[in-house]
Amino acid sequence: MGVADDDTFRVGLLGYGTVGAAFADLLPRHADRIQRITGLRPELSGVLTRSRGSFDEILESSDLIVELIGGLEPARDYLLRAMHAGRHIVTANKQLLSHHGEELWETARVQGVQLRFEGAVAGVIPVIRVLQESLAGANVDRVHGIVNGTTNFILTEMARTGATFAQALADAQRLGYAEADPSDDVSGRDAAAKMAIIARLAFDTPVHIDQVSYEGVELIQPDDLEYARDLGLGLKLIGTAERVGDSGLSVRVYPAFLYPGHPLTAVNGPFNAVTVQSEAITEITMSGPGAGGPQTATAVLGDVISAMIPPASTPPATETLDIVSDVMSSFYLHLEVADEPGVLAQVAHVLAQQHVSVKSVVQKGIDDQARLVMVVHPVLESQFALAMDQIGALGVMRAPPRAIRVIEEEFG
Ligand SMILES: NC(=O)c1ccc[n+]([C@@H]2O[C@H](COP(=O)([O-])OP(=O)(O)OC[C@H]3O[C@@H](n4cnc5c(N)ncnc54)[C@H](OP(=O)(O)O)[C@@H]3O)[C@@H](O)[C@H]2O)c1
Repeated sequence: MGVADDDTFRVGLLGYGTVGAAFADLLPRHADRIQRITGLRPELSGVLTRSRGSFDEILESSDLIVELIGGLEPARDYLLRAMHAGRHIVTANKQLLSHHGEELWETARVQGVQLRFEGAVAGVIPVIRVLQESLAGANVDRVHGIVNGTTNFILTEMARTGATFAQALADAQRLGYAEADPSDDVSGRDAAAKMAIIARLAFDTPVHIDQVSYEGVELIQPDDLEYARDLGLGLKLIGTAERVGDSGLSVRVYPAFLYPGHPLTAVNGPFNAVTVQSEAITEITMSGPGAGGPQTATAVLGDVISAMIPPASTPPATETLDIVSDVMSSFYLHLEVADEPGVLAQVAHVLAQQHVSVKSVVQKGIDDQARLVMVVHPVLESQFALAMDQIGALGVMRAPPRAIRVIEEEFG
């Protein structure tokens, strides 16, 4: 293989569907930045679909092949041929890797090319990189994952609205979170493919999808979710890969209740998350969007950049952004005040003067003191600090006011 004579790095794209089209859109928009990082300018050298392009021509004119066709064949054949021709590969194909991973990884090793597949598991969440690189020195004991966004969305909707499985699935399809044929997702088979890949990397042992046992969410009843809510539990479709004894490994996918303190309990909607456990690291959880064209294409592009040239240094900054110190924040405000009439009015007056608006307030009397606890809407921090100074100076205060910022964002 040879990189083109000029500074161009030629990327051949197989598949132009949800992810492929998003990737083709993303690549030129990031070409300048990638050139600064790698010294090479990536350029799309050809696109293959069922009705467009020729694989042989694309192979001939590419330094790297991005495979976004999906399925087993012809994707497997194309990737083997490309690697034998010395091309690096980036793919998001979990089915292919969970069936033929060993053959493909072996070919990449023998041919001395890179085979990268971040987009194959948990969309844009960098699970593969973290397992292969960051945690290469950790002896992983267990991995739990919510690795299918469709079923997580369905279970979240069932818990939130009391909907049946069929109703929640119809919502998922309407919103684009489920395919017209959702059987791989709801049966747990899609999650099983991803867990096979995760287990292969975390435990360094071959795992074929047929070795992963899986149950789906089709039989979950609204009652189950009601029970979970009453107990503060979350019901999730969990993928687990864990060491068993000295030489065993279990890889499975199943619906499970989780206690509120578990990091995966709070992962809702179409989001994915993976928790890695090991004695050395205790527990690390990564979460984020698990699918979607632009999201997965971002993971694919990250792999392309990694395959081009590892950055030798941090490129010079091209932006000079102002560093802002005064930002908008929500606050929790805790006031110990004299229990006498008009106190709340005095506090409210100060807040209004500084344009601080109250979202919720709770008042409780304790002997001759009262406690006022409130949450305020986002306000410029400097303005809130002025309000705090003025409240602190009120004669009715029995202790200095206390404030803690509130992050109102929720994901999923
Ligand atoms: N969609 C997601 O959110 C997501 C997330 C993570 C990973 N992935 C993975 O990314 C890959 C692509 O998924 P996608 O959702 O983008 O699929 P898609 O929308 O179905 O697109 C598939 C593309 O591949 C082409 N193709 C299919 N069979 C072909 C063949 N025999 N020869 C040449 N081209 C062929 C199709 O061409 P035509 O247009 O001619 O049919 C189409 O352009 C899959 O491996 C999938 O598992 C997807």
